Amino acid sequence: MRQIEFFDTSLRDGEQTPGVSFSVKEKVAIAKQLEKWGITVIEAGFPAASPDSFEAVREIAAAMTTTSVTGLARCVLSDIDAAVEAVKDAKKPQIHVFIATSPIHMEYKLKMTPEQVLAQIDKCVRYARERIEVVEFSPEDATRTDRDFLLKAVQTAVDAGATYINIPDTVGYTTPAEYTKIFEFLIANVKSEREIIFSPHCHDDLGMAVANSLAAIKAGAGRVEGTVNGIGERAGNAALEEIAVALHIRKDFYQAESPLKLDETVNTATMISQFSGIAIPKNKAVVGGNAFAHESGIHQDGVLKNAQTYEIITPELVGVKHNSLPLGKLSGRHAFTDKLQELEIAYEEADIVPLFEKFKKLADKKKDITDADIRALVAGDTVKN
Ligand code: KIV
Ligand code: ZN
Repeated sequence: MRQIEFFDTSLRDGEQTPGVSFSVKEKVAIAKQLEKWGITVIEAGFPAASPDSFEAVREIAAAMTTTSVTGLARCVLSDIDAAVEAVKDAKKPQIHVFIATSPIHMEYKLKMTPEQVLAQIDKCVRYARERIEVVEFSPEDATRTDRDFLLKAVQTAVDAGATYINIPDTVGYTTPAEYTKIFEFLIANVKSEREIIFSPHCHDDLGMAVANSLAAIKAGAGRVEGTVNGIGERAGNAALEEIAVALHIRKDFYQAESPLKLDETVNTATMISQFSGIAIPKNKAVVGGNAFAHESGIHQDGVLKNAQTYEIITPELVGVKHNSLPLGKLSGRHAFTDKLQELEIAYEEADIVPLFEKFKKLADKKKDITDADIRALVAGDTVKN
């Protein structure tokens, strides 16, 4: 089984979420939780961006014991100097250098010719590699880059000493089938005597970030990049917790696993949500409040007989104590009697039909039925909202 490296960029790309700014203290606390979760590499920030960004990367580098720490740098020597300086106390330092390679980015943003971009990649990756052993290179907007030019850019970075090649879907443009072909093409055609590890880095503009990341893993990527809860620019990044659980549940298909301690998943997601102020949607996969809740009578009856009828993930796997069967107008008698037993309410078999009828009338009027409602209903009281 292949072990995939998990690269978390919640503190760098995740902090690019509009309205989100973590303090240095919060970043260090998050990094400690990411290390506990089992993340392989933390991208702790963009050291050249501001004094606080530099300080956060420096403090996180010193605080990690097993996790690698990296800092982002544009293909600019002063950015590389800042990143190298910020990660120097890490036990396993890395740096991440990027430059755009798509026609639109080269012409309008960089105002550079393709030849100038290749020369800059060679110069900057060599400069970084002279200062630090592990260098990742990203051709920004790779999925809108001409295929042959992408290969030239990646080969230039590899020849200059990069070990990791990240293929960013910067604007969330690609599809699983297309991204698969890009990875297969690069893995087959990049030449190197050293082992080169490829990774996806996906944005969610078309809602395909997780699917695209998984497609890249299936195509041979050995590292995956993303953020907790999928926070990030615009529609966000690929949600690492979803990728990790998909690998776990579908290892038969992916033949790959994550290094994560999955029962720390909800703790990690909750911390990111609290510090970022970005609520986790109730229906979010893996960590949403409804991920293990079954409301309809047919589903509740199935789950009470055997949870696997409607649960492919056990709540315990990701650190949730148990599933829930919220009572509502679609609930059935099985879930209702189960609730009476859970609340230790004594009842005669003959009481069930009239009690269940009363419950259904109430549920038609009230969306959230609480334990107090059930007790009051059995006691024959008027239910107070
Ligand atoms: O999305 C992107 O292209 C990035 C790069 C800096 C890797 O975040
Ligand atoms: Zn990104």
